Amino acid sequence: MKIAVVGTGYVGLVTGTCLAETGNDVICVDIDASKVEKMKSGIVPIYEPHLDVIFERNIKQKRLKFTTDLESAVKKAQIIFLALPTPPGEDGSADLSYVLGVADQLGKIIEDYKVIIDKSTVPVGTAEKVHAAVAANAKVDFDVVSNPEFLREGFAVDDFLKPDRVVIGTESPRARKILEELYKPYVRQGNPIIFMDEKSAELTKYAANAFLATKITFMNEIANFCEKVGADVDMVRAGIGSDTRIGKRFLFPGIGYGGSCFPKDVQALSKSGIEAGYPFQILDAVMKVNQEQKTSILPKIEDYFNGDLKNKKIAIWGLAFKPDTDDIREAPALYIIEELIKRGATVTAYDPEAMDNVSKVLGNKINYALNMYAAAEEADALVIATEWSAFRTPDFSKLAKKLKNKVIFDGRNLYDLEQMKEQGYYYSSIGRTLIA
Ligand code: UDX
Repeated sequence: MKIAVVGTGYVGLVTGTCLAETGNDVICVDIDASKVEKMKSGIVPIYEPHLDVIFERNIKQKRLKFTTDLESAVKKAQIIFLALPTPPGEDGSADLSYVLGVADQLGKIIEDYKVIIDKSTVPVGTAEKVHAAVAANAKVDFDVVSNPEFLREGFAVDDFLKPDRVVIGTESPRARKILEELYKPYVRQGNPIIFMDEKSAELTKYAANAFLATKITFMNEIANFCEKVGADVDMVRAGIGSDTRIGKRFLFPGIGYGGSCFPKDVQALSKSGIEAGYPFQILDAVMKVNQEQKTSILPKIEDYFNGDLKNKKIAIWGLAFKPDTDDIREAPALYIIEELIKRGATVTAYDPEAMDNVSKVLGNKINYALNMYAAAEEADALVIATEWSAFRTPDFSKLAKKLKNKVIFDGRNLYDLEQMKEQGYYYSSIGRTLIA
């Protein structure tokens, strides 16, 4: 099929590349000319495991192309994906100006039937607005479909190629048939394509993310409570996770959720609730608890240093909001660093992928180490903020030689308590006994 993907951010790029992989002709459109030039020469503008390989392959096969010319791309395509940014506006609601701006242009461009697909996470009612914006200028028939994307950073390629489900919001039989055909190769294992109306599809995305954010936040509160009463959150997690109604996944407590989706989507759904006359009480609590959780490690560090962090050298392992990405949006590490600096500490950080992005924001406010052990050199304490695989099995005796004090504040519960006791570390984690 001939496809145009408008917007080459995270979702657009993965969507375009993975659609080309199954033999479609894909052209990705972006207004950023220098980014388009880079992509044409095979450079993937984001870090995402496995994306580079299929990106290169499909460019070589000439199934994946890039342009800044919206008009020519759209004219040749039968299906047009809108993967445009929907950043939070000042009041927290999703800003639709990019989506509606392109919709307005589409109406002027299209000369035959097109399926226009909202791939971005957009509030309930957006398909209707996009339809109206296109219809204002269009002289031909078209359908607007909501097809939210559920991919996770770090697993984006796999999530797209083998999705748990594909959600398609449309009541048009013509669009339904085209999309059934398009997604057939991706659901061969028997996972469902779930058809529904546009509004339900739009809400499905927000409900999924808000539910997962709530699940994590609930566990974070249970973990905080465990610390107060001397219970072990790992035990509680195993105990409740074996109940299939609860499930084992997304029960890992830590220093809060971050990233480009959960914080933005929970906020946007909360805002939509207020606008619709149904203010969600649970989402307000989730946002508040998560914000506090991001720096919940701080009082523990202060306690250890008797309230004085001045000139203390703190090593940080992990800056990205989660492993296998260079994304630092809403990353807890940045909040912790900010608070440490405010208290007069100096910070040396190491992250396998995200240091470039952090240096653009923090510059020389912190030091950047070449590797995880170099970050720990002469440090008074080590803080773990992201669970990169490389941090899971460090050489503890090598680490001990680097650190000034054998002190670890682990925001991701990477190590066994028994092991840390044996190694003689002061080890503070989330929802578990302090090893001192
Ligand atoms: C999420 C959704 O999973 C995905 O379906 C949607 O399309 C976009 O948002 P992503 O933001 O890439 O994906 O990351 P995810 O792996 O879901 O993690 C989100 C946040 O939750 C991270 O900050 C992670 O550290 C945190 N998390 C996750 C926990 O704190 N505990 C858990 O048990 C799981």
